[in-house]
Amino acid sequence: MILLDGKKTSLEIQAEIAEEVKVLKANKGKTPHLAAILVGNDGASQTYVNAKVKACEHVGFQSSLFRYPEDFSEKDLLAKIDALNQDDSIDGFIVQLPLPKHIDVDKVIEQIHPDKDVDGFHPANVGKLVKNFPTYISATPFGIIKLLEHYKIETSGKHCVVIGRSQIVGLPMSILMGRNTYPGNCTVTLCHSRTQNIAEITRQADIIIVALGVPEFLKEDMVKEGAVVIDVGITRIDDPSKARGYRLVGDVDFEKVAPKSSYITPVPGGVGPMTITSLLCNTLLASQKK
Ligand code: GUN
Repeated sequence: MILLDGKKTSLEIQAEIAEEVKVLKANKGKTPHLAAILVGNDGASQTYVNAKVKACEHVGFQSSLFRYPEDFSEKDLLAKIDALNQDDSIDGFIVQLPLPKHIDVDKVIEQIHPDKDVDGFHPANVGKLVKNFPTYISATPFGIIKLLEHYKIETSGKHCVVIGRSQIVGLPMSILMGRNTYPGNCTVTLCHSRTQNIAEITRQADIIIVALGVPEFLKEDMVKEGAVVIDVGITRIDDPSKARGYRLVGDVDFEKVAPKSSYITPVPGGVGPMTITSLLCNTLLASQKK
């Protein structure tokens, strides 16, 4: 079993990004600038956004964080997005999800200008992804693709089972793994809450990508010997024995599944850091395009 070390891989990619930033600064006097909007007090979202800001500093990007209270109105959020769309000093921006319930997430995503949508969530960018046109690929699927590439994992002709059909992970992931390229060329099965006999399907998988948010969903008896296992889940579980009061648990029963796998991502330190690095890649691209 080989651990897919997202932390180490992302630091290597971040070193390359930092070099490109130096070139951009020297040649064009430009510093890539990522902005993030965070609405409300969701603990995990605050952690993720802080990590994104820290990663920007690490590679020499400028970053701006706009924080708003839980009761921030949809109208005001849309107006802020308009302002960022028009702000030439910002190359790309994200609106951290989830949003409070009174805000229509689809409306918010559609308000982001596709050229600044470094999360790759806008329907225009999703459409480009489906058409295999150049675009911003959403950060988590893009990070998984980079990890498979980095470890030179064979994907052609393999059966890839994606569990979870979310707009930001499962659905784009299933499209990427079926594309006629590397990594890709898989036979893809997309499983979701209505899928019957899921264990029968996962047992046939050469590559399993779990993005459900259900701690330790993927058990030992659901995985065939030698499978590649990618765990996107990261749930906080109360744990008084930890200084911060919780531990992070993935969607895979790691202890039992790891010995059966050929490759597996740890949680934390697998997909998470790759997601952040992919966001940096998209922001660099946005900055270079301008
Ligand atoms: N919430 C969970 N993952 C993401 C992500 O990749 N981007 C944004 N904007 N919100 C998220």
